[in-house]
Amino acid sequence: MSANLNPVHENMPEQRPYKRVLLKMSGEVLMGPNEFGLHPETVARVARDIQTVIDTGVQVCVVVGAGNIFRGVSGASQGMDRTAADHMGMLGIVINALCLQNALEAIGVQTRVQSAIRMDEICEPYIRRRAIRHMDKGRVVIFAAGTGNPYFTSDTGASLRASEMNCDLIAKGTKVDGVYNADPMTNPDAVRFEKVSYMDVLTKDLRVMDATAISLARDNSIPIAVFNIREENNFANIVKGEGTFTIVGD
Ligand code: GTP
Repeated sequence: MSANLNPVHENMPEQRPYKRVLLKMSGEVLMGPNEFGLHPETVARVARDIQTVIDTGVQVCVVVGAGNIFRGVSGASQGMDRTAADHMGMLGIVINALCLQNALEAIGVQTRVQSAIRMDEICEPYIRRRAIRHMDKGRVVIFAAGTGNPYFTSDTGASLRASEMNCDLIAKGTKVDGVYNADPMTNPDAVRFEKVSYMDVLTKDLRVMDATAISLARDNSIPIAVFNIREENNFANIVKGEGTFTIVGD
């Protein structure tokens, strides 16, 4: 079947080819088949997927989570102070960002890590105009430490940075290939949406991203493509408007 006949493609926003895309991926993606931590082969594969997109001339920035290392919310649910738990989660993000940076530079992709929490000996501080300059020069900018504040998720950090960077798309890489009306992992009858509105995600609690992240993306009219990042080359495919994904928009 011709790629254009797939109804999913008709839902892609019109501004393609994109100038600048933010890739958001959970920390769990980087642990690959492991139960915890970082899986070097998977990190290397994600780096190659990013390189494929950079090679097409699209600017890329990346936000990662830290669920493979430490999850602030679950720390808090086990009795930790929420702020301390979120600080630990943000440090986990920095570890993931440095690992991804290393994997990208190993294959010749220029990168800069910018952290929302200053740690000048390790990476640059977040400076919006500098991040844009880096991307204009073809570098991948990896934004670390979320928003730098407790009580916010890395998804909200992704929406915030995508808004500040004037990104055309948030590519939300997950374990599943889109947004379903029920959990596809537990419900075989779950149906995937080709397109959902921000409002439906919020009111039907579809759990694409948390409500703060969705609201920010909506306020700034940034579409979100939800796709399975575990499959090789999917990131490049969705940037071209191909493959399987759900688009969240107006
Ligand atoms: P351009 O001048 O636009 O080409 O950018 P640049 O990032 O190459 O310039 P700069 O000379 O500022 O940075 C050189 C290297 O130092 C890069 O690898 C930066 O990531 C790194 N760097 C810059 N500022 C900091 C910082 O505050 N902390 C850390 N750890 N590294 C930094």
